[in-house]
Amino acid sequence: MTILPKTFIIVTMKEATLQALRQAGYISGEKLGITLGISRTAVWKYVTALRSEGYRIDSSPGKGYSLVSAPDSLLPEEIKAGLRTSLLGRQIAYHREVASTQDTAKALAAQGAREGTVVIAETQTGGRGRMGRIWTSPPGGIYLSIILRPDIKPSEALRFPLIAGVAAAQAIEQITELKPQLKWPNDVIVAGKKAGGILTEMSAEIDRINYIVIGIGINVNTRRAHFPEEIAGIATSLREECGKEVSRVKLVQEILAQLESLYQDFQLSGFEPIRVRWKALSNTIGARVSISSGGKEVKGEAIDIDGDGALILRKTNGVLERVIAGDVGD
Ligand code: BTN
Repeated sequence: MTILPKTFIIVTMKEATLQALRQAGYISGEKLGITLGISRTAVWKYVTALRSEGYRIDSSPGKGYSLVSAPDSLLPEEIKAGLRTSLLGRQIAYHREVASTQDTAKALAAQGAREGTVVIAETQTGGRGRMGRIWTSPPGGIYLSIILRPDIKPSEALRFPLIAGVAAAQAIEQITELKPQLKWPNDVIVAGKKAGGILTEMSAEIDRINYIVIGIGINVNTRRAHFPEEIAGIATSLREECGKEVSRVKLVQEILAQLESLYQDFQLSGFEPIRVRWKALSNTIGARVSISSGGKEVKGEAIDIDGDGALILRKTNGVLERVIAGDVGD
């Protein structure tokens, strides 16, 4: 027996209860039960479960139940309520706290979880960034990992961090009207500081991919005081930059919608249209940079990204170098 289906059946009935409550002003337990095809005791059980998650549900004798407010959390039922996708986020594994959504998603993928499954958490105790760095994950951010199973060769996977970067930047622009930029390979930059990052990992055989897990971390409503001292000068959050709280639920819905649409474009038309989009969002192309990779440092002008997603650098001596991994500095 696998754990997944059982979890999803429970979530679905709770979701249905919530959906019915969203549509009604007041609705009696009896009517709710008839609508959902369950007993009044079961209705009470799901209402109790929703309350324990932070939903305020009034119950009034003679009138029934009424949804007063929803919690500020990334609960699957909140995300699914306005989700425009057909693949990504149709199954969501939610955690208040987890070591790393990336590790949980990889474990689920190895057990056969469907393409599009999302693992999401309010906080992470062992969040990971690129190059083995720690990704500090206090409340108020978005920490999610998405399982994809593209039918491509492992050598083509370098494009996925860039696809995800474009999705994240476009989603932030849609929801906040900020103008994010992308720093190669996939830092999300707002007002010159890092507001998000992407970690892409995969399991593959020589000629095919088993799964790719795209991990996205965004400092959304994160307070400056929650950034560790060593990154306080280079990190920012969307809230800091737009001066008001940003709906994390809407942003997650938008990220999933943007990524799904880019993923479909990629499958239909290849990487080229996304490469063009990435370059338009980039703050790296045209800049003089210094790239550190594997203990080596190369300086030059970043002139392009190629069809694989690699950065093309014109070194100080004029020679072109193709870089597939590294950290870009000034
Ligand atoms: C980076 O810029 O170094 C990448 C950061 C990626 C962080 C995200 S948060 C969700 C997922 N879970 C992790 O442990 N890491 C990624």
